[in-house]
Amino acid sequence: MTSPDLPAELKAALDSRLRGFSRNDAAGRSASISKTYRDGGGSSGIRSEADALAYALARMPATYAAVTASLNALTEIRPEFAPGSLLDVGAGPGTATWAAAETFASLQKFALLDANDTLRTLALGLAADSFRLRNVSYERGEARAALAKADAADLVVASYMIGEINDSERRALAELMWQKTRDTLLVVEPGTPAGYARIIALREQLIAKGAHVAAPCPHDGTCPLVEPDWCHFSQRLQRSRAHKQVKGAELPFEDERFAYVALTRVAISSRPSRVLAQPTVSKVEITAKLCTPEGVALTKVPRRAKADYASARRWRWGDAVTEQG
Ligand SMILES: C[S@@+](CC[C@H](N)C(=O)[O-])C[C@H]1O[C@@H](n2cnc3c(N)ncnc32)[C@H](O)[C@@H]1O
Repeated sequence: MTSPDLPAELKAALDSRLRGFSRNDAAGRSASISKTYRDGGGSSGIRSEADALAYALARMPATYAAVTASLNALTEIRPEFAPGSLLDVGAGPGTATWAAAETFASLQKFALLDANDTLRTLALGLAADSFRLRNVSYERGEARAALAKADAADLVVASYMIGEINDSERRALAELMWQKTRDTLLVVEPGTPAGYARIIALREQLIAKGAHVAAPCPHDGTCPLVEPDWCHFSQRLQRSRAHKQVKGAELPFEDERFAYVALTRVAISSRPSRVLAQPTVSKVEITAKLCTPEGVALTKVPRRAKADYASARRWRWGDAVTEQG
């Protein structure tokens, strides 16, 4: 399993860029970028080097953690998957590229694309300090146009990106991303009802084109969750000193809520159930909400079933699990 915390090389590259920048100024910029996101805006307000750095300091650790958690879930279901090439759509500072590079030693070719030149410059600066990433190619341009020109890749990732475009553009982009996917497409979004709705719509659209779900769902059928319920997960990550300062936060960690889908061209043979919330443990039983190949189940594992109870005690929200009995 890849750690959800930023790799030391990336942390050092970010820290070195922070030298000479006022942390108070970075905190102010990061607060205004966060407010824009909360108000439904996107990354277009990120215009200067200081804005890009503030965004990266405040958000890159969390989006990195969410992408890593999603890739960990994918590799658990498909341990044989060894992509040689990556296409990172709406790459911003290169977060998903770093996460994929950490997860897959097999990756050799990294292609990124994004409309924001400031984030592209930061990404290239950060990657320049990395042995594996210093030769990435990074196309600046609108996603669909840049994607149309891009080579297909074994792994295509869009992390926290599809929420920044409108519904019809998103459908066209999903189709194009799938065309450029040789094996697996991973899409990650914020773990909000709106983020989940975008994931579920893209999932349905691409299953109709022949895609199979590798994770999180144990089936390719319609999502069995009923509103106001929505499928999302949570990843804990450590906050560095700079991260805490930029966010004006005290706690040494944060929990990133995210939604994701990993779609592949190969049929999936392993279909374990997915834990949809943190299980509750009582003296008599463990109760876990599971998405199973047959639908959502509230599974109870009694204490008297000693071996099953012992393994269910290790279940965590987001895990792929096999029920016994
Ligand atoms: C919230 S950021 C996420 C960046 C990065 N993927 C991450 O996870 O940290 C969204 C990114 O999508 C890019 N983006 C949004 N709409 C785009 C479009 N139509 N074409 C290209 N890039 C786009 C933005 O410029 C921004 O870099």
